Amino acid sequence: MSLSNVKNETNHQVFNDDCLKTLSSLRSEIDLTFLDPPFNQQKDYASCNDDLPEKDYWKMMRDICSQVFRLTTDGGAIYFMQREKNIDGVLGVLRETGWTFQNLIVWKKMSSAVPSVMRFGKAFQVIGYATKGNRPRVFNRLRIEPSLLKHQKHERENGCFVTDVWDDIRELTSGYFAGDEAFKNNDNTRFHKQQSPIALLLRIILSSSKVGDTILDPFAGTGTTAVVAKQLDRNSVSIEIDSTNVECVEKRLMEMRTDDQIEKFYKEYVCTKNLGEIWGAKSLEVKSIKAKTNGKQGATLFNL
Ligand SMILES: C[S@@+](CC[C@H](N)C(=O)[O-])C[C@H]1O[C@@H](n2cnc3c(N)ncnc32)[C@H](O)[C@@H]1O
Repeated sequence: MSLSNVKNETNHQVFNDDCLKTLSSLRSEIDLTFLDPPFNQQKDYASCNDDLPEKDYWKMMRDICSQVFRLTTDGGAIYFMQREKNIDGVLGVLRETGWTFQNLIVWKKMSSAVPSVMRFGKAFQVIGYATKGNRPRVFNRLRIEPSLLKHQKHERENGCFVTDVWDDIRELTSGYFAGDEAFKNNDNTRFHKQQSPIALLLRIILSSSKVGDTILDPFAGTGTTAVVAKQLDRNSVSIEIDSTNVECVEKRLMEMRTDDQIEKFYKEYVCTKNLGEIWGAKSLEVKSIKAKTNGKQGATLFNL
């Protein structure tokens, strides 16, 4: 399926197939990829085996990263998410397929850690950020306003740059605590247990792309990447093997849910230089944003 957003002239393609097969035949130029595959940890996916022999799993990751590399523009980026146990695999696969390592991002979870009796509880996931070539074609240095720590008395005048530790993005947990952003079945269970938060994709897309770029998600799930890309005036290519998930992606793109709207996060980035340009000012309903500006840098572009 291909959806054109006439107003903002962006294009959103959704493929219902195996991503390796689709990637091999794709001709699009990709500027940024979010790679969030099943982690091979025996989760109950309807259309794929999440319990492959290690060798087969990492061969598949290598083949996918190679195809994505082929399609990516010079300086384009990939963000490869995995459980912390697989750090080695992520870094090895990226290196072997030609990518240049930039950061290992620690996405620190806000809910309680996965307990263990013989080691520390696990409280983060990793995201390998790498580029095609040494210099990223786009890297927007976002500024955020982290909450005050105990020893800090005053808010910083202009926030601070985002680092490689992301501890301010809440994961969508199970049950009630997942909130309304998570898709639910009629019995209130999660529709897709691995749905990523829009705040995570917002940070990735704002950091590593500009308006008009094309963002790829080979394991699209519920379409979080596409729904954020669309709001930021970027194009998207989504690939998903499970047809039930594909229906969700298409519906999500056509009928924007209140819980998917990104405007609520605008104020978190208001100290970022040129935020209006990065965000895609065309699509922003300026008046509906209740950002606390206080004369901070990015906000001035919108005459808030
Ligand atoms: C970790 S989830 C991604 C969740 C997604 N980030 C979101 O926000 O909903 C991985 C997804 O990849 C899909 N998948 C698994 N194997 C695939 C393959 N070979 N090709 C395409 N999609 C696949 C699964 O059905 C699942 O929806």
